[in-house]
Formats: sequence, C-alpha cells, structure tokens
Amino acid sequence: MVEFALPANSKVLPGKSHKAPAGATRVKTFQIYRFDPDSGANPRLDSFEIDLDDCGPMVLDALLKIKNEVDATLTLRRSCREGICGSCAMNIDGTNTLACLKPIEEIKGTARIFPLPHMPVIKDLVPDLSVPYAQLASIKPWMQTETPQPPDREVLQSPEDRAKLDGLWECILCFCCQTSCPSYWWNGDRYLGPAVLLQAARWIHDSRDEHTGERLDELEDPFRLYRCHTIMNCTSTCPKGLNPAKAIGSIKEKIASRQF
Ligand code: SF4
Ligand code: SF4
Ligand code: FES
Repeated sequence: MVEFALPANSKVLPGKSHKAPAGATRVKTFQIYRFDPDSGANPRLDSFEIDLDDCGPMVLDALLKIKNEVDATLTLRRSCREGICGSCAMNIDGTNTLACLKPIEEIKGTARIFPLPHMPVIKDLVPDLSVPYAQLASIKPWMQTETPQPPDREVLQSPEDRAKLDGLWECILCFCCQTSCPSYWWNGDRYLGPAVLLQAARWIHDSRDEHTGERLDELEDPFRLYRCHTIMNCTSTCPKGLNPAKAIGSIKEKIASRQF
C-alpha cells in the first residue's frame, strides 16, 4: 500500500492505496471517503485501482467489487441496483446522484466518491438521515380523508386529477436534492428541504385528500417552507429528473391563492 497526494486545502487525510491486480487491462482509480466515528480516527480518502474489463458498468458495480474483493469493511447502502429504492445516493464526481445509475465511463480521470454532503456520517458512505425522515413524518405523507370510503370500490380520481401527481409520485426519497440545497445546509433543523416539500406537494395536489387546508397551514411558516430561495440546486441534481423547486413553487401558489 502507498499513499497518494490530496490538494493542500483538503481536510480529509490521504489513506490507503490499493493497486490493480497484475495483468489489469483498463485501470480506473476510485478515491473513496472512509470514516468510522467509533475509531476516533480522522476521515481519510482511500484509493482503489479497479480493472474496468473485470467490473460492471456502474459506480455501484465498482463499489461492490471493492467491498467483495478488496476491502470488506467499506460501508455503503444499496438494495435495488436499478434506481428504485434510493438507498445508494452519494456524492460522485462532485454531484449527488445514485451509484447504481451513474456510469463509470461518464467520469473523467479519478472517480471521487463521498457521502451525501452536510449530513452526519454513520460510517464511510452512509449518512445519518434520521432528521429528514422525521421531517418527512411531520408532513403526514399519507392520504387523510373525512368522507367514509365507499364499501364496494376504491376512492376514484379523474385522469385529469391523476395527471396532477405526475412529477411528484416518482420521487424515490433518495435525498440527493435535500443534501444539495444550500438553504437546507444552513437551516436543516427548521427548513423542511426540497425532498420533503415535494412529498408535501404530492399530497396537497391529490384530489382525494381532504386535509389540504391543514397541510397548507402547517407549511405556512418562514422556515418550514419559505427558506427556499429558488436556487435550483435540487432540480439540477435529482437523478429521477424531477423538479422539487417547481413543486415548492406550487405550494407557495396554493397558499397565495387561498380564499379566507
Ligand atoms: S430551489 Fe429551494 S429547495 Fe431547491 S436548492 Fe434552491 S433553496 Fe433549496
Ligand atoms: S426529488 Fe429527486 S432527488 Fe429529491 S428525493 Fe426525490 S428522487 Fe431524490
Ligand atoms: S441501489 Fe436502489 S437506487 Fe441505487
């Protein structure tokens, strides 16, 4: 193992370097953030050389190859490996995205991989998401009704009303947008953030939900909603191509157009 150099202003220490196996034909270097709070040691960046001719095409393939064949202590979340579960969100090459949807070939030079930014780190690439999950619970992300449900059928919705949920229901709660939002970085204890507000919009715009007024009352707050300054980082980073900034704008419009 040898050490590699980091930029002089880096706060992350250089770590271990793992060379590609002899005879490797197409070598790519991955620098990966490593941190174990229980060890008391500073974070470090480990370097792994991978033979791309012996690896799947996505960043998640490389990470699992490293975990399975080089360093079993590398810690990350993943499940579906097809952009559905949202658990493999991390910062790859400077952008929050899903490791399972990020082709290695899109990364020029060394691939640098960090956990989602501005969150406490549980270990390596695993952030502590308990605050955004508590914020999600606070907006009651389920249908609330007063009218008794018909005994013989589902609660119906017109195709036009159903179409209003497009661009909202597809969210997989990966929190790429949440952790790319400068307002959330600075006020994450009080501002709900783009992922949670997009979920709030999903229920506010659902014609079957009967608690729209209460939902808007809860959000009409200088911090919970109005810390969004339309910086648009959230929309640029969403790996599902959604537009949380627009969803937030639609909540503000609903509040502004309310009849009292
Ligand atoms: S548009 Fe709003 S939610 Fe999105 S990054 Fe900007 S401040 Fe954050
Ligand atoms: S809006 Fe996009 S980036 Fe944000 S949590 Fe949902 S899927 Fe992830
Ligand atoms: S592993 Fe499920 S979204 Fe990447």
